[in-house]
Amino acid sequence: MLDLVAELDQIGDEIFEALGSALRSGRYILGPNVEAFEREAAEFLGARFAVGLNSGTDALVIGLRALGIRPGDEVVTTGFSFFATAEAIANVGAVPAFADIEPDTFNLDPEAVEARIGPRTRAILPVHLFGHPAAMDEIGAIAERNGLPLLEDAAQAFGARLGGRPVGSLGRAAAFSFFPSKNLGAFGDGGLLVTSDEDLARQARRLRDHGAGRDRYRSESLGYNSRLDELQAAILRVKLRRLEAFNRSRRRVADAYAERLRRNAEIATPIERPGAWHAFHQYTLRLPDRRRDPVRRRLAEAGIASAVYYPGTLAQQAPFAHLEAELPRAEQATREVLSLPIGPTLSESQISRVCDELVAALS
Ligand SMILES: Cc1ncc(COP(=O)(O)O)c(C=O)c1O
Repeated sequence: MLDLVAELDQIGDEIFEALGSALRSGRYILGPNVEAFEREAAEFLGARFAVGLNSGTDALVIGLRALGIRPGDEVVTTGFSFFATAEAIANVGAVPAFADIEPDTFNLDPEAVEARIGPRTRAILPVHLFGHPAAMDEIGAIAERNGLPLLEDAAQAFGARLGGRPVGSLGRAAAFSFFPSKNLGAFGDGGLLVTSDEDLARQARRLRDHGAGRDRYRSESLGYNSRLDELQAAILRVKLRRLEAFNRSRRRVADAYAERLRRNAEIATPIERPGAWHAFHQYTLRLPDRRRDPVRRRLAEAGIASAVYYPGTLAQQAPFAHLEAELPRAEQATREVLSLPIGPTLSESQISRVCDELVAALS
């Protein structure tokens, strides 16, 4: 789906140099690279603070804890995302209240959000799925009317923008993932919590280090060991400088796919809403449901990778199966979506081969 080694070939010298000096520095946890990366990422994202963490999942958990979400609270979120979105809510003891999606962007439908707000709702957690920004203006207005904080799950959307503003600066806080396949990927796990709220940033710094404040050996609450490490931060600093160029290359691939595929009546290519700048973490199209799985098999026979993100809704996952949720549009998406290979280094001839095989499989 993504050639990470080809990406490394383009930036290897800088990466190996950064790793060498980080290794020789003798500081491996919460050192100068993490500090510098936090500053550079916050500036890139238009936020005041960024806190480097172990993973995107931890960024969600720590974000929810810092917002004061407690056992028994409800958090309204999308029914169509990676498991970690809902898992984080459940792991702080809260209950995910799943809302349905907009069929064209696959993101939370603002009207469905409004309908799920109840007396126990304490936050709204939109996901910028596949790199397309969620409808933050509408969801933000609902959050404000109801006095609820917004925590963005921006794991898939580093570099995406809405109305010219980077996602990650559109709510009270945002969680990013640096899982290797992400638009900004580490060579291991990593995550980031971003906010312009100083108190929230302080809480997140405390929670990532066993709940300890200024004095390392005096914990104010239970926390986690969830620190971004120096080697990953050194890599991320190099890759952040290339991110805009890499994201533009992803769009080049997306444009080439759209050019070739949008005339086919059975393919619905991804859209970009007015004002939105899609980061194309995934290139996810829709096919008629009876066609999707046979087409996928044909592609696999031709040696072409494809993926189904996601084969089930969050409400269909075992730990959430007891929760009441009406998600007909998310369920339909699970039967129709197909993601094609995408990445900054995909060549014109690779794109052509994917398109040729896909069109042939449909004919
Ligand atoms: C939407 C979404 N949320 C959360 C996560 C969790 O991130 P991580 O794998 O870094 O824990 C991921 C990615 O894996 C994701 O795609």
